Amino acid sequence: MTAPAPGRIAQVRLRRIFDSRGNPTVEAEILTDRGERAVAGSPSGASRGAHEVRPFPEGGVEVAQERFRERLRDRLVGQALGDQAGFDATLRETDGSSDLSTLGGNTTTALSICYALATARAQELPLWRSLAGASRDPPVFPALVGNVLNGGVHALGGPDIQEFLVLAEAPEISWAVEGMVAVHREVGLRLRERFPHAALGRGDEGGWVSPLGNLETLGLLVGACQTVQDRGLRAGLSLRPGLDLAASEFFRDGRYVYREQTLDRAGQIGFVEGLTDRFHLAYVEDPLDQEDFEGFAELTARLGRGGRTWVVGDDLYTTDPDRVARGMGLASTNAVLLKVNQVGTLTETRRVVTRAEAAGAWTVCSHRSGETPDAWLAHLPLAFGSRGLKTGVLGGERMAKLNELVRLRSRES
Ligand code: PGA
Ligand code: ZN
Repeated sequence: MTAPAPGRIAQVRLRRIFDSRGNPTVEAEILTDRGERAVAGSPSGASRGAHEVRPFPEGGVEVAQERFRERLRDRLVGQALGDQAGFDATLRETDGSSDLSTLGGNTTTALSICYALATARAQELPLWRSLAGASRDPPVFPALVGNVLNGGVHALGGPDIQEFLVLAEAPEISWAVEGMVAVHREVGLRLRERFPHAALGRGDEGGWVSPLGNLETLGLLVGACQTVQDRGLRAGLSLRPGLDLAASEFFRDGRYVYREQTLDRAGQIGFVEGLTDRFHLAYVEDPLDQEDFEGFAELTARLGRGGRTWVVGDDLYTTDPDRVARGMGLASTNAVLLKVNQVGTLTETRRVVTRAEAAGAWTVCSHRSGETPDAWLAHLPLAFGSRGLKTGVLGGERMAKLNELVRLRSRES
């Protein structure tokens, strides 16, 4: 619960801005009666889960702005700061639909975060501390999850697997950032050696577009992680490989269709288990279709032995408290990805954290493939006690979050 803060909303705006892919999204701005200003933009996904709220109403951003002006703005002006649950309830209630298709989940996300920022500003606290209250003191800094090679819908022409990741853990956040960058660079060198005349590009989340197949790309990532790890850059720095398969994207008629092979459900479970064992994967996200809670549970039981591998649900849960409750009941995963705009408000995101925590699962705060340079995401793992922050390795919009985390760390020391 956010502590009461002095001040009220004097003005609130919703403007159309552009994300890192150049697509329109929304940015909210709140001016308080004491003259403080808060601004927050909402990111957008490309491989969206089937159970996410709608990012925008039919007709897009301009319709969202029109509805905001006609139905919501006057209800928000004059509201007291410091009541996040009440504010988020107003957003939900005004929208009136179950999938936020009236206002759009990006609209409510931008407003929900902007209100939290305005409250924090009025309290003269960093966002994370305002959200956490006294419960997370001293803050625990998350492991970083960064995207080294891209495929799937984030990199056309690349492998079917969407993300080849590095899980970086270090006693200092900036060392973990350095480690991820070193792995990204090492992969670049290896690609250049292998394809000296090819034009090598980067995908939507800043990872290399791999010109190789799924297994070869994974081999490249694993080799690069090992090489950089062996260099012993910093004491206590650990760099381990992981994957976000985003398997729903290549699940067709009950089968997992890769460019090299087609697998049924049992085949897919065995395949992912085999990859995890062979390559010592530390992190596996969305290894199965988004409706297969039982399949996830079977894989988690096999991989979760000794708590070695993070098995993470993204499209499986879409940050929906009810879906997370179901997954926790079945032990579908041992970790839950959090994307605020999958559910539309901070309050509902917090509800997911509570459910995951009660079941002993970890949470991972995540960016989207279409991002803004906003830095608020870096505060959420500290506010929620999340074990991880997934926000890419390179690209100004990704680095903005990493640098904010570095900033928060330096202020805590
Ligand atoms: P999205 O994908 O932001 O394009 O939905 C990111 C992910 O699957 O983790
Ligand atoms: Zn994902």
